[in-house]
Amino acid sequence: MKEIIDVKLRARKVDFSECKTDLLAVGQFSDAKGLDKLNKELDSKLDGAIERVMKLGDFKGKDATSAIVYGNDRIGAKRILLVGLGEKKKVTLDTARKAAAYASNKAVAMRAKALSLALHKAFAVQFDVTTMGRVLAEGAYFGSYRYDEFVTESEDGRLGSLEVELIDPDSAKAKKLKKGLSSGVIIGKAQSYARTIANRPGNVVNPIELAAAAKELARSSKGLNCTVFDEKQLAAKGMGGVLAVGSGSRNKPRFIVLKYRPVGKIADSLPTIGLVGKAITFDSGGISIKRAAKMEEMKLDKSGGIAVLGTMKAVSELKLPINVYGIIPSAENMPGGASYRPGDIITTFSGKTVEVQNTDAEGRMILCDGLAYAVKQNCDIIIDIATLTGACIIALGKYMAGLMSNDEKLTQQLQQVAQESGEKVWPMPSGEEYAKEMKSKIADLKNIGSEWGGACTAAAFLKEFVGDKKWAHLDMAGRESSEKATEFSAEGSGGFGVRLLTTYLMNLTGKKARK
Ligand code: BES
Ligand code: MN
Ligand code: ZN
Repeated sequence: MKEIIDVKLRARKVDFSECKTDLLAVGQFSDAKGLDKLNKELDSKLDGAIERVMKLGDFKGKDATSAIVYGNDRIGAKRILLVGLGEKKKVTLDTARKAAAYASNKAVAMRAKALSLALHKAFAVQFDVTTMGRVLAEGAYFGSYRYDEFVTESEDGRLGSLEVELIDPDSAKAKKLKKGLSSGVIIGKAQSYARTIANRPGNVVNPIELAAAAKELARSSKGLNCTVFDEKQLAAKGMGGVLAVGSGSRNKPRFIVLKYRPVGKIADSLPTIGLVGKAITFDSGGISIKRAAKMEEMKLDKSGGIAVLGTMKAVSELKLPINVYGIIPSAENMPGGASYRPGDIITTFSGKTVEVQNTDAEGRMILCDGLAYAVKQNCDIIIDIATLTGACIIALGKYMAGLMSNDEKLTQQLQQVAQESGEKVWPMPSGEEYAKEMKSKIADLKNIGSEWGGACTAAAFLKEFVGDKKWAHLDMAGRESSEKATEFSAEGSGGFGVRLLTTYLMNLTGKKARK
């Protein structure tokens, strides 16, 4: 796939003031007493310009704010971007990632060709510098991303590439930045890849096209193998859930299985992981049709499946020593003469029967087949990710994904990884009370619960299909519908889940981010 903005990253030892660049980004905490030492050096060569901006109160180092100071002949940079880091006591890995994203977003907006990110000393003290290399690279990709592949008439256009460098005056630190950078580039690219596929509309990406993209990914990746079941194979296997949801569309459903096997030896203690992602390429609601307002956002209903696709790309490039399945059931949910209908009873891949009471609760109808398939492949730990319910957005807003699980340790690990990756999750229940609501009188289960707690009843439904396997469910509906542009990133898909899931797998294999 052609990259939308070609980001080139490197790390280099250089003094901040000597760094020749279009834009030099330096961080500043809001509660720091005066300027940081290195910023001070820069400031003296700028005849106190940074101090003046701060004295005027135009820039206070607050999170998601910045100011520009122009260079002179005593420093190498044409412009200095002061990036607010917020309060020092609240600093996390994501503070650094977001600052890099902020600066990269600005660099693209001002058509800078080269951006230099100066490592703030506080980060080097608090975190492993190699890890900093990774998160800064992730941030550079995240912030510079734009989706404009179908724009043919743009007034000012934008540059096709951006050179980003991570800099530090200390050569040992610069070396560590360089070491960490490579995994950050892999993860950043995988996330941008996910964003582009997610942003493509339903007339461009349907289940068949998505399967083709997965095949192409596997072809060009080491250790990655892709099998796709078409509608005939779905029928032969009894994948009734995927078939039912896909029946109303001319674009037939597909069941995509990516299998990653590392080249080297795997530690015996490591579990086999199954990642299952919902890929509804467009969700009209089907016969239980949605209202018209904002229905176009439902092209993003494939985001969970694409998070899995992006993660598989990253895992294979990182060559992680762990077995991973990426399972992506995909369908288009449309009304039509052949659609499944409210009242239908569907026999799913697991053998369990489901009474359909609302065709718009289609995500769980395809995920249940994906989960049962992961169980059948004997995955030890199964994590599913889906834009599953509007109820989850009502519960948590748009800032984080819901996390339901049947395993305490897995819950804790995912919460920890959410911290590190900056892709937030919040634990929610999915126990007995909710499971009861999903029982049907005329089938084993029904596909909707009562009026309340829709995110929890949906999770309780999914839980019925994982048997005694360790399982976690991520409801990312809030993170992926109608993403507006922020100071850190452009509008559209944010590729949520790629960093979270990849970091989880990295940590399992011992490539831990140290604090
Ligand atoms: N894809 C939607 C969930 C969704 C809603 C994602 C808004 C992003 C933004 C899902 O398929 C759906 O329609 N869920 C229904 C379930 C209901 C019928 C039980 C919902 O949330 O309304
Ligand atoms: Mn729906
Ligand atoms: Zn949906």
